Amino acid sequence: MKILGINGSPRIGGNTDILLDKVLEGASVNGASTEKIVLNKLKFSPCQECEDMRDDGECIIKDDMRQLYRKIKDADAVVFASPIFFGSISAQAKKMIDRFQCLWRLKYILNKDTGYKKKKAAFISVEGSDREDFFENARSIVKNLFAAINAEYAGELFCSKVDEKAGILKHAGCLEKAFELGVKLARG
Ligand SMILES: Cc1cc2nc3c(=O)[nH]c(=O)nc-3n(C[C@H](O)[C@H](O)[C@H](O)COP(=O)(O)O)c2cc1C
Repeated sequence: MKILGINGSPRIGGNTDILLDKVLEGASVNGASTEKIVLNKLKFSPCQECEDMRDDGECIIKDDMRQLYRKIKDADAVVFASPIFFGSISAQAKKMIDRFQCLWRLKYILNKDTGYKKKKAAFISVEGSDREDFFENARSIVKNLFAAINAEYAGELFCSKVDEKAGILKHAGCLEKAFELGVKLARG
C-alpha cells in the first residue's frame, strides 16, 4: 500500500505540514509505505491553457509535474493537504490542480481510460478562523481533483482556529484524528 501525501502549504513545519505528517505516521505504523511531496519545493508552471493538448492525459509542459503525475497515478491512496488562504486552498495547491486539466479532458471529453489506478483520497485543511464555508469552498475544488485522478473521497479533516506556526500542536484532538485517518487509509 503506497500512500502519497501532498502538502500545499509554503510553511515547512507549519500546521498543514504537521497534520499531514501525523496522517502519514498513522498510515506507516499500519504497514503502508508513505511519501510526502511539498508543492512549494517543486518547480512547475501554472496551466497555460495550451491549444495543442496531448491526448494521453500528460501535460506538454516539461517540469516537476511530470514526476508528480506518475506518483499520483501509481499511489494506492493520496492525502491532499492545504491551508485555507483567502477562503480557499493555497495558490500552490490550486496550481497543481489546474495542471490536471489534461487528465480531466482525457477522462470527461475524450471519454478514455486514464490509466490512473483506482484509489482512496483524503483532504485535510487548517484555517485561522472558524469559517465552515471556507472548508466547503476548498472541499468542492478538491473533489474535482479527486474525480479526475480516479480517487474516491474517503475522508477529511478540518481544523479551525489554528493560526500561529505549529499552533496545531496544541490541538491534541486534531492530531489524534489525523493519525486515525492515516490508520483508516492504510487499512484500505
Ligand atoms: C495568505 C494567507 C491567507 C489566509 N487566509 C485565511 C482565510 O481566508 N481564512 C482563515 O481562516 N485563515 C486564513 N489564513 C490563516 C491560515 O489558514 C492559518 O494560519 C493556517 O494555520 C496556516 O497553515 P500552515 O501553517 O500550514 O501554512 C491565511 C494565511 C495566509 C498566509
